[in-house]
Amino acid sequence: MEHFKTDLTAGDRRSQAAQWAADETWVRCRKYENDPEYMECVKDILAHPVFNSMDQYIQHGNTTCKTHCIQVSYLGYRICRRYGGNWRSAARAGLLHDLFLYDWHTHARETGEHFHGFTHPRRALENACLHFQLTDEEQNIILRHMWPLTPVPPTSAAGFAIVWADKFCGGAETLGRLRHLRLLRMLQPARH
Ligand SMILES: [Fe+2]
Ligand SMILES: [Fe+2]
Repeated sequence: MEHFKTDLTAGDRRSQAAQWAADETWVRCRKYENDPEYMECVKDILAHPVFNSMDQYIQHGNTTCKTHCIQVSYLGYRICRRYGGNWRSAARAGLLHDLFLYDWHTHARETGEHFHGFTHPRRALENACLHFQLTDEEQNIILRHMWPLTPVPPTSAAGFAIVWADKFCGGAETLGRLRHLRLLRMLQPARH
């Protein structure tokens, strides 16, 4: 598999994964389509217009919800392939875990609902169940992906893989944005 080399130390592997998560060209070039076993799990979701509508909403930094979900899904899938867990559930629930379908940056102002971090897993699950056939495990992964912010943990290894992949990708997206801003500031002419 070309995206994660296997002959690396744990530290090298973590930094390789962080670079991968911060670099969206992998998603923009649709390189995940080169993994036929992954595609077999998720091709119906990737082709669905409701899933693709997440491209209009920003999640972290400059990363859209759609890109974020593809990265979380693929990373969760790879974790399960390597360490155990239902990789099909991780791949499918990872794609749908943030299917809340609104701009959370303006949502509180527009609706008065101030607890997006706590409420969006249930909204995502409701939307996902409207449009897709999901197993109990997939539903649990979506509903519990914000653990430990929401107090009930997921019930499966795939659920924990998605919890970890979500935090990891969210952190990398935010850090990538901060690095970009720092670079922009450095490129600005000094004020005298
Ligand atoms: Fe989320
Ligand atoms: Fe997420």
